[in-house]
Amino acid sequence: MNSFIINGPGVLRGSISVPGDKSISHRAVILGAIAQGRTMIKGLLESADVLATVDALRRMGVRIDHHKEGGIVIEGVGLYGLKDPGQPLNMGNSGTAMRLMAGVLAGQSFPSTLVGDDSLSQRPMSRVVEPLAALGADISVQNTGYPPIQIKPVKRLKGVDYVMPVASAQVKSAFLLAALYADGASRVKEPEQTRDHTERMLRGFGHSISQQGDWISAIGGKELAGAKVVVPGDLSSAAFFIVGAVIAVESELILKNFGVNSTRTGVIEILLEMGANIQIENRREESGEPIGDLFVRPAQLRGISIGHSQVPKTIDEFPIFCVAAAMAEGKTTVTGAEELRVKETDRIKAMVTELKKLNVEIEETPDGFVVQGKSTI
Ligand code: S3P
Repeated sequence: MNSFIINGPGVLRGSISVPGDKSISHRAVILGAIAQGRTMIKGLLESADVLATVDALRRMGVRIDHHKEGGIVIEGVGLYGLKDPGQPLNMGNSGTAMRLMAGVLAGQSFPSTLVGDDSLSQRPMSRVVEPLAALGADISVQNTGYPPIQIKPVKRLKGVDYVMPVASAQVKSAFLLAALYADGASRVKEPEQTRDHTERMLRGFGHSISQQGDWISAIGGKELAGAKVVVPGDLSSAAFFIVGAVIAVESELILKNFGVNSTRTGVIEILLEMGANIQIENRREESGEPIGDLFVRPAQLRGISIGHSQVPKTIDEFPIFCVAAAMAEGKTTVTGAEELRVKETDRIKAMVTELKKLNVEIEETPDGFVVQGKSTI
């Protein structure tokens, strides 16, 4: 194992861009594959998780290549053009890949099996089996609720209304992707709004997905049209630099061209509420997604209470947020965040264990944590 020596405290100064958004990258590749015609993607995050999705689609006959002038080109095969991969599809460590692909595979005329690495093989999949079965899919998991996911072809899926018990963009997206193959309209309602990249991107591929009140509605059987997608920088990667510049004295950081979709910006909203000095400027839209540039300077933070309604839009940023909370004046309490326990790791346990090693006063609760901040700014 490598060891690193970090001499703190330092200063973060300069202007940076972060790599492409992971959630948007998965969706761009999937929709490009099942659309008709060519899709061009700029800024795709070519990380192991996204490459698991790319590999699965290639195994089902989709051509996905680097374009000679940069970017990725996908020759879409249409909704019904995927081919039987003839072997299990390995989603590696990626819950997004497994759950979104389950949605697509539920509508195919061939059987499929989705497997993953040791960590993914311990993550809950019944949450995706239930909505897809409600649409008529023949889908099952182990009786533990864990992968592999087995899907068998059915004659047809049929549109239904589904109320999600857990706030999960992956589950919502799996349902909406399967809904593309279902007869009639399928509608889904979530307990709290989660990231809406699938809905936005479906519109970009020509699908007239709509929202009435809390219900998101998709009509099946309509082909998507290949599109040009520009993937913005990933707010989840930017969050590490944002927190760094907020807590390190004399920092001055500009982060350019990253996604500021309000279903993802929980960490920025919370830091602002704690007194952070962050400005979002040059707000614009690219491929249906809001993007902007961020200006961050240090500030003295104050502890706050964060409840369940802020959890979905902050879900991947809580680990680094804990560091900010540890540097704030007073107590920060997070509740309603039990979903953090079923990620790649139990994020509550991991954060509490590691911060305790740095003498941070942090306590685990069943659905979150309590940090007693000690400002050093
Ligand atoms: C994601 C949704 C979130 C998030 C994950 C990516 C997505 O998961 O934690 O990193 O791309 O839809 P859940 O849907 O399980 O909350």
